[in-house]
Amino acid sequence: MKIVSGIQSSGKMHLGNYFGAIVPFLSFQDQGDSLLFIANLHSLTTIRDASKLKSLALDIALDYLALGLDPEKTTLFKQSDIPEVTELYWYLTSITPISLLNTKAYQDKINNKIPNDVGLFTYPVLMAADILLYDADIVPVGKDQVQHIDLVRDIAIKFNIAFDSNYKPGKISGIFKLPSAVTSDVYSIVPGTDGNKMSKSTGNVIDIFSEDKIIHKQIMGIKTDSLSISDPKNINAPLFQLMKLFFDIEQDQSIKEGGIGYGNYKQMLIDMFHAKFDEARLKRKHLINDLGYVERVLIDGRNRARENAKSVIERVRQAVGV
Ligand code: TYM
Repeated sequence: MKIVSGIQSSGKMHLGNYFGAIVPFLSFQDQGDSLLFIANLHSLTTIRDASKLKSLALDIALDYLALGLDPEKTTLFKQSDIPEVTELYWYLTSITPISLLNTKAYQDKINNKIPNDVGLFTYPVLMAADILLYDADIVPVGKDQVQHIDLVRDIAIKFNIAFDSNYKPGKISGIFKLPSAVTSDVYSIVPGTDGNKMSKSTGNVIDIFSEDKIIHKQIMGIKTDSLSISDPKNINAPLFQLMKLFFDIEQDQSIKEGGIGYGNYKQMLIDMFHAKFDEARLKRKHLINDLGYVERVLIDGRNRARENAKSVIERVRQAVGV
């Protein structure tokens, strides 16, 4: 089984990325051939500063390794190190109807004032190339990305129909395998500190590797209502939904019964955060002193990923006639 996923290197790793995508990904690390990449080409839709683009990609590599990715088991690499991915992107754009790309995610991004450039519009086609290039069976992602994986399947089907006369949907497989999204049942969409989806672009995040005082500020900034200490609280409020990432909040009667103030719950969340992540935070500090190791992991990852991509890109070149 081939497992493939990626994360944009456009900002700091946050709880949404971790619980939504990294936990499910790592749970598959032992179950097949897994590839995880740093989507630094996708980051070009928002970042136009070469040194920042470079350092953010390295940051994500450090984050992954600190969080338990085993580079012996998982091929870790930078998207931009695989020229076949942009080649495949072009073949795929050639058969993708414009109407398919006018997605909600695209509209949301323009509404969030991300420049409305062609790259932003065709973003899901590059995702399709990321996934189809490695014959992925499953793609562990947060729920917000499922619409994109559905699109990837549509693009793969269109390509198979266009270039493979033997292809019979559901009966005879075509040039591309159809990948499936896998999401976590527990953490499908992690809310941000304002209750909306946690997202790098909206600043409602709780980072994993920022300094203690920033984490403290982010958690203390979680939006709450004006209920008093003795009032029963709403278990669906963002604070409790974030606490739910760390323990079974149904077990805590005080939330429904009242008696504890929001400040105390926030402190509990800070403590749980540190209990869960301090080991990884420390590991990351050590890794920063050994960037040569991280570079070697990425080079090895590039070589393995390109090896994986070889047969697929050959198949595609033959199919289209180049
Ligand atoms: P990105 O960088 O926005 O997010 C990386 C992963 O984290 C998940 N995620 C969340 N999950 C739950 N709750 C949240 N609040 C939350 N925020 C983020 C995302 O669902 C994702 O799984 N386009 C992708 C990167 C990408 C990719 C790919 C992923 C490029 N090519 C191919 C999979 C396969 C993105 O921007 O993710």
